[in-house]
Amino acid sequence: MIRFTILLFASLLFSTTAFPTAPGDTHIAIETQHTALVIRVDKDGDPTVVHLGKRLRNAGDYGLLPENSKRGEDYTRIYNSAYTPAGGRNLLEPALQVAHADGNPSSDLRYVRHETKNVADGVVLTTVYLKDPQYPFEVSLHYKAYQKEDVIEQWSSIRHTEKKAVRLQKYASANLYIPAQKYYLTHFHGDWAKEMNPEEIQLTAGLKVLDTKLGTRADLFQPPSFLLALNQPAEEETGEVIAGTLAWSGNYKIEFEVDPLRNLRLLAGINPYASEYTLAPGKEFVTPAFLFTYSGAGKGQASRNLHRWARKHRIPQGEGNRLTLLNNWEATYFDFNEEKLTALFKDGKKLGVDLFLLDDGWFANKYPRNDDHTGLGDWQENKQKLPHGLGYLVKEAESAGIKFGIWLEPEMVSPKSELYEKHPDWVIKLPNRAEYYFRNQLVLDLSNPKVQDFVYGVVDGILAKNPTLGYIKWDCNAVIYNAYSATNPNQSHLYVDYVQGLYKVLEQLRAKYPTLPLMLCSGGGGRVDYGALKYFTEFWPSDNTDGLERIFIQWNYSYFYPSIATCNHITDWGKQPIKFRTDVAMMGKMGYDIVVSKLDEKELAFSQDALKTYSRVKDVIWQGDLFRLVSPQTSDMASLMYVSEKQDRAIWFNYLVGNRYREGSQAPIRLKGLDPARKYTIQELNVFPGTNSPINRNQTVYSGDYLMTVGFNPQVDARRASVVLEVTESK
Ligand code: DGJ
Repeated sequence: MIRFTILLFASLLFSTTAFPTAPGDTHIAIETQHTALVIRVDKDGDPTVVHLGKRLRNAGDYGLLPENSKRGEDYTRIYNSAYTPAGGRNLLEPALQVAHADGNPSSDLRYVRHETKNVADGVVLTTVYLKDPQYPFEVSLHYKAYQKEDVIEQWSSIRHTEKKAVRLQKYASANLYIPAQKYYLTHFHGDWAKEMNPEEIQLTAGLKVLDTKLGTRADLFQPPSFLLALNQPAEEETGEVIAGTLAWSGNYKIEFEVDPLRNLRLLAGINPYASEYTLAPGKEFVTPAFLFTYSGAGKGQASRNLHRWARKHRIPQGEGNRLTLLNNWEATYFDFNEEKLTALFKDGKKLGVDLFLLDDGWFANKYPRNDDHTGLGDWQENKQKLPHGLGYLVKEAESAGIKFGIWLEPEMVSPKSELYEKHPDWVIKLPNRAEYYFRNQLVLDLSNPKVQDFVYGVVDGILAKNPTLGYIKWDCNAVIYNAYSATNPNQSHLYVDYVQGLYKVLEQLRAKYPTLPLMLCSGGGGRVDYGALKYFTEFWPSDNTDGLERIFIQWNYSYFYPSIATCNHITDWGKQPIKFRTDVAMMGKMGYDIVVSKLDEKELAFSQDALKTYSRVKDVIWQGDLFRLVSPQTSDMASLMYVSEKQDRAIWFNYLVGNRYREGSQAPIRLKGLDPARKYTIQELNVFPGTNSPINRNQTVYSGDYLMTVGFNPQVDARRASVVLEVTESK
């Protein structure tokens, strides 16, 4: 009772005496076409988030916003801080935790000023400058608002001019505040060959953490991406959904904290785990970007926003072309020679792909790369397998009529390699502990500038010698164990410096080779994030290429990444007919990893036609808007379509994913994204030779209104387990 009275008294004191609400506070509105993030600065200079959601018609109304839709007393007045400093009056999860030069473990951040400028067509950057009143210590919060795409990219930068270094113990990229009645978080988990499994939970009071400590492969167990639905579980086309992702290829931490007032605090950034960063006076620490989009129309709109943003603003040539390819990994593994490869070039040409991709196993001599135990790091052609070198293969492929690309894993080293023998200090390992391997290999220390130069030199050297090389698949098959650098003076910088070192190398390569197609691969989908996708044209979602599995894997990646960047290969992993596997691969950037000579006549004819069809319709799949119609997660079918921006064409994919009796599309499926006022015809694609399409007999013209209100039955059943349809405006 006594305690209650004291609290009540304290709360009266806080709300009435100590911190009166001052009229005329500053409201900083970061707006896109449909979204607003509003930061309020009160008379004490505390920056707080008072709105994240739909943009208000009248910007003046932001001034009316209550402090933060609080449902009770905020003892600290900064539960909704725009960047919560630790150690002072804060009681909740901080965004920033530092030990100042004098050892003081607290921070306070007050508003200094803000500025807004147009940095590109349709891109507005707002920077809010904050400073600790007691120290020459500053944090700037940056918000890039992509107007048309409704995406906000947010990061922070930290600098100081204290007498000595400051120790940064936590340094988030973003700190948001979202009041709602209920919060439903969809996060993803996985492992090798089973990436991106969704799980939706209702958040309860306290913290839910998504994170990784794998060092190189943020995505493997738990990707840095999530969907957050407000008030109700996430729906495809209705309800408020925030899709967020951290653009960082290393250890990350995303925290969701339902605070004592039942509001949601969101913090995202580099994982502070083993990563205290010592910041010298005058230096700046820039955090990676947290990207998010708010949708008032479900997760479908959220995905479309991210796809448009990624194509236009992030992925190299996101609105350009991609090459179809034939990869030899599953066809040969390490067992090949020049003769075998030249035959495969011809097979690739016969099939009709643009490029042949030579995978792992082409290099190393002292410890030849004949399996995955040896040779990584020794990037010279293996003389036994390739006596005439890569240049010869490039020419042979080109004279067969296709381009040539290669696989590299330049961040890694085999314990049995000349590189390791020569430079043991370039390898991440603890001096007094036994080595521990992930896929029989170790990671090079990219925090070391000499290693950065080596990695750059490997790639640049190969490209300089083979200037028409058309493609690089960049793999990364190990995590970091025994994290320790032989050269880094700050061991706790290793995880951060590794990723920054990697980006530095990629930045240099991109400056010299701006249009080279680069595939981001990590033993499958171990590393898929928008930090790396600034440099890579595409990514490899999973080594699991079973047609059925891929429907789920691709479906879940599609929440965040556009189809043009999603490499889908037709392989022999799955037991489904080649038509099914082809139809599934067509939903993104199509390729092959099969023995073409083993295809029978019909399969080959089908594949050749499919490639021609693909080249005719790929612009709709790559640049169109994605609409998910039937989820494989909750039904025996999957159905989704891509609609061109002009709404005059759509490609519609349908699959049977279960095998219960008579399952399939027993009723029409409602289409989405068409123009209700226009007329359309429907044509089946990828019809296997010798079979007939029941759909192509039908010449009916439908209105968009009909197709979206009543729908159309793609006639999927056990005999027609995959059906691809082209919807074309009829004029
Ligand atoms: C893992 C990749 O995901 C595969 O596609 C293949 O390139 C192997 N590495 C080669 O070692």
